[in-house]
This record gives sequence, structure tokens and C-alpha cells, in this order.
Amino acid sequence: MERTLCIIKPDAVKKKVQGKIIQMILDSGFNMLGMKMLQLSTKQAQKFYEIHKERPFYNDLVEFMTSGPVITIALEKANAVKDYRELIGATDPAEAKAGTVRKLFASSKQENAVHGSDSAENGIKEVAFFFSESEL
Ligand code: CMP
Repeated sequence: MERTLCIIKPDAVKKKVQGKIIQMILDSGFNMLGMKMLQLSTKQAQKFYEIHKERPFYNDLVEFMTSGPVITIALEKANAVKDYRELIGATDPAEAKAGTVRKLFASSKQENAVHGSDSAENGIKEVAFFFSESEL
């Protein structure tokens, strides 16, 4: 079994499509180990996206991710990372396949509805960023 972290981002929560996104995840066979709705602090968002800190979009990304509540979900499934990335589609909704979460609900590369871990190793780390083992 692999873990991956889903974040339903502020744009999707503002549009009230979090229920539809969660249903798509469940219909794709993922187990939900834990879920939290929270307002990220600037420090938390900076730390979570530290890997992107040299990128030109980093400050805007931090501002966007702290612009409203997010929902973090710890997911588990065989091949969770790959299968979840297929379900959500490409970072840029213009390039995302029909029927993916981002094609349906994202509006730009930044406001792209959901986050997903990019490797099994990061899946474990990112789930641990938001959840202690006793919460899962
Ligand atoms: P996410 O999967 O959360 O990982 C990093 C995030 O940075 C990504 O989704 C987008 O929200 C954002 N991002 C990636 N590339 C760009 C870009 N070229 N311009 C703006 N935001 C980006």
C-alpha cells in the first residue's frame, strides 16, 4: 500500500466542489485515512512548498494557499501516487485530460483545485506534515 496527500485547495473550497472531488477520489478506490479542514499559516505554506522556493511562482503560490481554508486528506491505495495523479490530471488544466479533477474544477496552473504527492517517499512525508500516526 502507498500513501499520497491530497490537498483540496482554496479555489475548490470557495467553489464548494470539495464534496464532488472527495466522491471522485472514493469512487477511484482510495481509502481515506484522515481528513482535516484548516487555514494554512504563511509559515506552514512556505514550509510545505519549500522545494519550490526558488521558483518565480513561489510567493504567489504561498499567498494563494493561505487565501482561504483547505482540506487535507491522507489517502492510501496500491499505486496511490500514480493513480491519484492520473485522477487529478496535469498541473495546467489546459493540458489535463477530460474527466480529471483539474479539467473539471481548476482554473489555472496556480489555482488548480488539488495537490498530490509526486512520489511514494513524498507521499509519506507529506501525510506526516499534516497528520500524526495516531490520527490515521
Ligand atoms: P501542486 O501539485 O500543489 O505543486 C506545486 C504547485 O505550484 C502546483 O500544484 C501549482 O499550484 C503551482 N504551480 C506549478 N507550476 C506553476 C506555474 N508555472 N505557475 C504558477 N503556479 C504553478
